[in-house]
Amino acid sequence: MIRTDLLVVGSGVAGLYAALCATARGMSTTLLTKDKLADSNSWYAQGGLSAVGPDGIAAGDSVASHVADTLTAGARLNDEDAVATMCSTAWDHVQALLETGAVFDTEADGTLALGLEAAHNHPRILHAGGDATGKGLASALIAACRIQEADGKLEIREHAFVTALLTEANPEADEPAFRGTRVCGARVLDANGGTEEIGARAVLLATGGAGQLFAATTNPAGATGDGAALAYRAGAAVADAEFIQFHPTLVSPGGFMVSEAVRGEGAVLLNQYGERFMRRIHPAAELAPRDVVARAIHGVRAEGGTVHLDARAVEATRGPGFLARRFPSITAELARLGYDLATQLVPVTPAAHYWMGGILTNDTGATTLPGLYAAGEAACTGVHGANRLASNSLLEALVFAWRTVVNLPGDPWGIAPDGNLPESNATITLLDVPGPDMTPSSGAGTDMELTALQALAQRYLGVERTEQGLRAALAQLQSWSVQGTDRASHERANLRTVAMLVATAALRREASVGAHHRLDAPRAGAPTHGQSPRYAQRALGA
Ligand code: SIN
Repeated sequence: MIRTDLLVVGSGVAGLYAALCATARGMSTTLLTKDKLADSNSWYAQGGLSAVGPDGIAAGDSVASHVADTLTAGARLNDEDAVATMCSTAWDHVQALLETGAVFDTEADGTLALGLEAAHNHPRILHAGGDATGKGLASALIAACRIQEADGKLEIREHAFVTALLTEANPEADEPAFRGTRVCGARVLDANGGTEEIGARAVLLATGGAGQLFAATTNPAGATGDGAALAYRAGAAVADAEFIQFHPTLVSPGGFMVSEAVRGEGAVLLNQYGERFMRRIHPAAELAPRDVVARAIHGVRAEGGTVHLDARAVEATRGPGFLARRFPSITAELARLGYDLATQLVPVTPAAHYWMGGILTNDTGATTLPGLYAAGEAACTGVHGANRLASNSLLEALVFAWRTVVNLPGDPWGIAPDGNLPESNATITLLDVPGPDMTPSSGAGTDMELTALQALAQRYLGVERTEQGLRAALAQLQSWSVQGTDRASHERANLRTVAMLVATAALRREASVGAHHRLDAPRAGAPTHGQSPRYAQRALGA
C-alpha cells in the first residue's frame, strides 16, 4: 500500500492550494482527482475573489465592511469568528497567489481592478481574464503543482475516484467514544476499474459541491457531493445541509451561467412586461442578496412569466465593445448560444449553484473524525451561513485550505472529535437521520436513475419547499437503491446520500431563512446570531 502524509482529494482551488502548502512544508503529499486536474467547479468560477487589502481597496471599504456584508447575506447564521478570520486574512492569500504566478486584471494605471457583485457594499471583487477568474487561479496553481510533481515532492493521480474512506481503531483508545476510530486513507478506483488503497496520516476532502443533484445547475458534471457522502458514511458530521444557493441567472434555454458581475456593471432584470420587478422587492433591486433575487425570478416564472437579463444600457453607456472586453468568455458563450449581450435580452432562470452545507469543520479544517479534514465547498466552515456572499467561495477555499495544512497535528490521533466542533454561538444539534442504504450494489429498491433524482430534487428540494414535498422526496429516496460498482454508480449513490441529508435538514428547519425557503413557514425578520440554531447530522450508529 502507498503511504503518504497528506492525501488530498479534489483538484479545485482548495485541493491544489492545500497540496502546494503541504509540499512547501515538506510533507509527502498525494493529490487525487477523479477527472483531469482542470476539471473542477473552481475552474468555472466567473465573477472573482472577494478581498479587501492594502493594495486593493475601494474608497470607504474595510475588512469590517466585508465581514458585515458576509453576515448580512448569510442571514447571520454564519460562524462570526470564521468570517472574521477569512476576511482579515484574505490579502495574505492574494499575495501568495500573485507569488505563485496568478494574474489579476488591472486598471489602466496598473492598480488592481475591483468589481462589484450583489450584496457587497463596495467593489472588492478581484478578477482574472475579465470573467474567467477560476480558470486563471486554477491554472496558476496547477502549473505550480506540476513543478512540485516534477521535483518529486507531489504525487498527482488523475482519473482516481475515491469510493470509501479507510478507518482504523486506535489501539490505545482509553475513551472509545471519542478516540475510537480515525480516518487513515482511502480506497481508490482507477479509470480501468482497478482498485487500490492509499494510506495517509491525514485525508483532506476538497471534492467541491453537489450541484448535479438538480436538473438545473451551473455546476459541471463532476459536482456529485462525493466528499460529504464519503465523510457521512465514515461517521463524520455534515452541517447546514438545507442551505443550497441558487444562482439567479442561468441562461434558459442554453444552460450557461451569466455572472452576477454583469449586474454589478449595471445590467437589470425585466419581467414579461418589461418591468424592473426587483425594484418592488428589495431596495438593492438586482443587487439584492442572491437568495432574494433567485426567489423573485422563480416567483415570476412559477406564475407563467418570463425573466430576461438586460445589459443593453450598460453597453450604450460605457461604449461599444465594453461588454465584450469586460466579459469576454460570457460574451463568446452567449454568442455561441445565439444571444448578443450588448443588443439583446437574455432569458434567465435560477439554478443550483453552491452548497453552503457540507462536512462540518472547525476553523482549521478538522472534521468530527480524527484524521479527516475538509476544505472548499465540500466543507461547512460556517462562513457562509444561510446564503453565501458572492465571490467568497474561492476566498474561503484558500484561507481554510491553508489553515488546515499549517495546523495538521503531528500525531494522527491528534485531536479529539468533540474538541473539533466549530466554535459558535449557535447551537449545534446533532441530528441523527435514519441510515439509508447508501452503498452501490445493495438495497432492494428500484435502481435509481440520475435524471429521476435530479427531477425529484428540482421539484421538492429547490428554491421553494414544503413539508409535504420534503416528506414525499424522502419517501421516494428511501424506495430507491443504487446498483452497480462503477464510478457513475458511486456518484449516483453519493448524490442520493446528499439528497437525504438536504431533505432531512430542510424538514427539520421549519422557519424560512436565507436560501432555505419553506412556503409553509413564514419568513420572520432576520434572525440575530445564535437565535436560529445550526444543525449537523451524522449517521445513526456512526
Ligand atoms: C458569479 O460570477 O455570479 C458567481 C460568483 C460566485 O458564485 O461567487
